[in-house]
Amino acid sequence: MVTPHIAAQPDDFAATVLMPGDPLRARYVAEHHLEDARLVTEVRGILGYTGTFSGQRVSVMASGMGIPSISIYATELYREYGVQNIIRIGTCGGLAPDLSLRDVVVGVGASTDSNTNRMRLMGFDLAATASYEIVRAIDDSARESGTSVVMGGIFSSDLFYLPDETIMDRLAAAGILAVEMEAAGLYGIALTEKRRAAAMMTVTDNLATGERMSSEDRQTSLDSMIDLALRTAVKLGD
Ligand code: HPA
Repeated sequence: MVTPHIAAQPDDFAATVLMPGDPLRARYVAEHHLEDARLVTEVRGILGYTGTFSGQRVSVMASGMGIPSISIYATELYREYGVQNIIRIGTCGGLAPDLSLRDVVVGVGASTDSNTNRMRLMGFDLAATASYEIVRAIDDSARESGTSVVMGGIFSSDLFYLPDETIMDRLAAAGILAVEMEAAGLYGIALTEKRRAAAMMTVTDNLATGERMSSEDRQTSLDSMIDLALRTAVKLGD
């Protein structure tokens, strides 16, 4: 079976797909965290792999950047490849003053400036929430390994370069922890496709202080988040 944007066979994906934005990060997860990983799709350079972790099949595929891009891949994975769970593993800009670089944020709910969820609900607002089952599995995995995660509301922005940065102060005042660019769209798709999704993101920059991590630093600090996502995938089963 080949869908417009994924060239894989029907059984090529595991029940859970980890989804970084960057295709090279998908390759990194496959090469450094999975066993027997096999490339299952590479249309437009969006690399997807399936391998095993702790003896269970798990997949990792890139989403590209932004809600329009993740919407295409998530829809095809849920509808055509039988995927049950998508766990976004990304990066975010921290807004909350007490968040530090390298902290892992789990987006329990995602506010957004994107119109895609309104399109799904013919103009009404959809409460874009992560799946309780995945959030619970993340929480259990984090407690077992002593990994700290910060759970709460995030903001999924269509623009990385905003015309007016004062919106960030409003978001921070509303208790939003961090900004990224995909979760609200992913959650809307999971809810309407009746599948599960959650997003966890490492804080790579702090929008209040302007502090930011180097790209090498990003790679290494992502390892503990990747491990947390993989242990969560094992709890969710195949
Ligand atoms: N904005 C949006 N997405 C991001 C950011 C940001 O500042 N940092 C990492 N992902």
